Amino acid sequence: MTVAVRGLDVALGGRPVLRGVSLKVPAGSWTAVIGPNGAGKSTLLRAVLGLLPCAGEITVAGADLSAMKPRRRARLVAYAPQSPSLPVGMTVFDYTLLGRSPYIPHLGRESARDRAIAGEVLDRLDLTGLAERPLDHLSGGERQRVVLARALAQQTSVLLLDEPTTALDIGHQQQVMELIDRLRLSDGLTVVTTIHDLTLAGQYADALVLLSGGRVVASGTPAEVLTRAAIQEHFQARVHVLPGPDGRPLLSLERP
Ligand SMILES: Nc1ncnc2c1ncn2[C@@H]1O[C@H](COP(=O)(O)OP(=O)(O)OP(=O)(O)O)[C@@H](O)[C@H]1O
Ligand SMILES: [Mg+2]
Repeated sequence: MTVAVRGLDVALGGRPVLRGVSLKVPAGSWTAVIGPNGAGKSTLLRAVLGLLPCAGEITVAGADLSAMKPRRRARLVAYAPQSPSLPVGMTVFDYTLLGRSPYIPHLGRESARDRAIAGEVLDRLDLTGLAERPLDHLSGGERQRVVLARALAQQTSVLLLDEPTTALDIGHQQQVMELIDRLRLSDGLTVVTTIHDLTLAGQYADALVLLSGGRVVASGTPAEVLTRAAIQEHFQARVHVLPGPDGRPLLSLERP
């Protein structure tokens, strides 16, 4: 399902946060939204989900999500927020099962299939051993993977992931990125992630969108967007950009 945003303006607390943002994420592709702190990346994901008042046009598979009932929207798009507030005392398994809510009838209970899907997702994210653990007894990276597990349990065609790897060790970063990539290739998922690790973004995404000051200042392939000049201008960082073994850019900080 294609995600299309045209001329999006969002103001928060009376201050413009996104200005004239347009982007198109073709069905089955992966776009990473990058940019400095405060650029508007999380705001963009929340706007796409239909959670914010905005001007402009946002469609997912041609439909306007803000006009959709939450249940229907949750079967179409899953969202993993950057800093979710997690219910205290709930177990990892029950939280993951919440991802099945859009499929469970009102006043009904989850089916054996819903439980099997939650269990399978936990397994794929290395969380089976933690299934009965309360959420407040997890490490930061474990918590982050559980939030992703809930989103994956929704089995939607579109995934919006806000900084899904920030708290993860390098092994779990690779596991999560490979899992998302496999789902994209096998089930044709459309993926939009924000991500601060620019090399990681460039390794997995088909396209990068660089947001700065609420505007799209560059978009294209990783090699087109991740240039030394753009990183200097928008992040005030001096970096070396080298082509990796697969031609995708690798960034390293330049020491004075
Ligand atoms: N509710 C709010 N009211 C007013 N301003 C807000 C509100 N929420 C966010 N902002 C501001 O909007 C801007 C964009 O915030 P956003 O969270 O989208 O940035 P971001 O690019 O995701 O940053 P980060 O890399 O730190 O996650 C920031 O300047 C932030 O302070
Ligand atoms: Mg953010």
